[in-house]
Amino acid sequence: MTINAATRVFAVIGDPVSHSLSPLMHNGWIADHGIDAAYVALPLRSDDPAAALRALGQFGFSGANVTTPYKEAAARAADAADDVVANTLRWEANGALAAFNTDGVGFVAALAEAVPDWRARVRRVLIVGAGGAAIAVGKALSPDVDSVFFINRTQTRADAVAAMLGNGGVLGWQDMERGFGAADLIVQATSLGLAGGPALEWPVALCQEHAIVADIVYRPLETDLLMKARARSLVAIDGLGMLIHQGARAFELWFGIRPNVGKARARLMAVLQR
Ligand code: ATR
Repeated sequence: MTINAATRVFAVIGDPVSHSLSPLMHNGWIADHGIDAAYVALPLRSDDPAAALRALGQFGFSGANVTTPYKEAAARAADAADDVVANTLRWEANGALAAFNTDGVGFVAALAEAVPDWRARVRRVLIVGAGGAAIAVGKALSPDVDSVFFINRTQTRADAVAAMLGNGGVLGWQDMERGFGAADLIVQATSLGLAGGPALEWPVALCQEHAIVADIVYRPLETDLLMKARARSLVAIDGLGMLIHQGARAFELWFGIRPNVGKARARLMAVLQR
């Protein structure tokens, strides 16, 4: 498809975005379906990100993904939002801006893909982290489990997140071992483990034999946590599944088409393994 004056424009917006895999993923799907659209990465530096995001509507943008650190601004910028943190924007035909959070459904879809009977296996969840990703994952899991415990370096943030859920709980950072031992599902939802980041001594040795371990980080694909979980033959889920499934839901919100997640995984793996 040649880009022309009628081409609909989409973007991923954040700071930084130069290493985002979203353009590769969405342009692949756009090509798969022969849609006249293009998806680019736009770095944004702004004191008023909500205003900057709204301005894109004036340029005729059709939709966007919003990433760190502007997910709260994205929800604020919209005329209607399904959550207080948004990763997907859609400009409607009447000019109104709608915001969605597809991170939570994306995580659950990735979990279901790896462990189809997860609902029968998971009663107690431990989420490490209390940022936007942790909130989205916690909210999405909460209705299907007995408890969702948060453990975060800054405990006050964990307190605030746990209070959003009817079955939320908090553990102190020093209680990591106890948390790992009690959980059926452990979700690493901090930016730790990202390439070059500091490693933590994850107490995987204390996990129960049936425990499922998931990391939302996908660079590297095999984080230290997942490596340790696999060494113990635990089910280990990498962050690529969540990235692809949150993107697939966004694509569906924009185009009304469910894209092929398997094709996306193959394309992204080719880049990540390079
Ligand atoms: P996101 O929206 O992507 O989740 P965020 O809101 O900045 O990003 O949250 C980042 C998470 O990673 C937080 O839980 C943060 O812990 P703090 O609340 O204590 O800052 C966590 N995090 C980042 N670097 C960390 C580190 N070196 N050790 C422990 N936790 C870290």
